[in-house]
Amino acid sequence: MGVRFGLAVLSAAVFAAGCYPKNFPPPTSAASFTKDYPFDIGPYLVYVEGGKVAVVVGHDELEAAPVVSWRTDTSTTSKATSVTAERVDGLWVAELDELPLDIPLTYTVESSIGEVGPIRFRGGRSPRRRFRFAAFGDTRTGHKVHRALIESMAKEDVDLVVHSGDLVESGGVLDEWELFYTIEAPVVASAPLIAALGNHDLSQRNHYKRFILANRYADNQRYFFRDWGDVRVIIMDSEEESRRGSAQYEFLESAMRDGAEKDMFMVVALHRPPYSAGAHGSDMEMREILGELCPRFGVEVVLAGHDHNYERTKRIDGVTYFVAASGGAPIRRMSPSWFSEVVRTEPHYVIFDVERRSLVGRAINLDGDTFDTFVIPPLEPQASEAP
Ligand SMILES: [Fe+2]
Repeated sequence: MGVRFGLAVLSAAVFAAGCYPKNFPPPTSAASFTKDYPFDIGPYLVYVEGGKVAVVVGHDELEAAPVVSWRTDTSTTSKATSVTAERVDGLWVAELDELPLDIPLTYTVESSIGEVGPIRFRGGRSPRRRFRFAAFGDTRTGHKVHRALIESMAKEDVDLVVHSGDLVESGGVLDEWELFYTIEAPVVASAPLIAALGNHDLSQRNHYKRFILANRYADNQRYFFRDWGDVRVIIMDSEEESRRGSAQYEFLESAMRDGAEKDMFMVVALHRPPYSAGAHGSDMEMREILGELCPRFGVEVVLAGHDHNYERTKRIDGVTYFVAASGGAPIRRMSPSWFSEVVRTEPHYVIFDVERRSLVGRAINLDGDTFDTFVIPPLEPQASEAP
């Protein structure tokens, strides 16, 4: 994978400057953002499982551990449950447990530098409940675009956000991660972010793993799954070996088999796209792996990044593949391929409404206009064993 990383760095350098079409805001320096909250990072949410959500704050100069209190509504007369945050890899983490599902909750964070909240959130969803999640990717350097998309997304009342990777430009630079969470604050304080690792997020310092609390909640891996209502989001690491015989392949097979047995909608999110008509094009290794696994277990959707454009494919063996990756990174030209259903070159995010028998979606641009709509029905598993 070293060659891949080298190529990515080269291509990032080639595309770094002057690639913004006219009307798009240019990249912005960190100094021009006013923080929504007083901490260096957060509060942001990490979803663990139904009824369990961690509230995370990053700040070096607190005199004592922050205390997070949650309650079932905003009324001050309802009883609050308080949890003192623990220090985890330099972050403050308060794990909220036994949260009721489906109903709106609120939390506050009390600390030596101030109190924030109440902030609305949810502890999870029961099966057969309708809900909404958002997807996007490749935020990287386009901070104004990223923030504009987040402010628009924040009005959609999403339960979750799925990011298809390349959260930042240089994974080893801590300031970039702090800026990422500053920009994301209006959404990630209320809705857990579930993010795949992109090639730009890689670094020896492994900030990606630290911020998603991988050590605590993902067996210290960069692949894991989360269930929210009837949806299983499977996060795949496209920088790590995933062919048959690898540990990641075994994980994918087992997560998908279990999801199929539970009759869930399944969404795989990864960075490198199995199908893409964009500048990087299709990653044939990812296509081989997911092209075999997804139809076999009835995975309805694959969400990828890496090419900074929007693409929804025709259904391929029943599976719909997306590239949803203009979250701020420079836009690149593309032309449709045989597998393309819709392509678009402008910043966007995608909304999925999880209905009883389908995923109803729309893609939205910076003006708030919907430029693609779709309905994805459940996909029956084609076989349970490998061919
Ligand atoms: Fe990438």
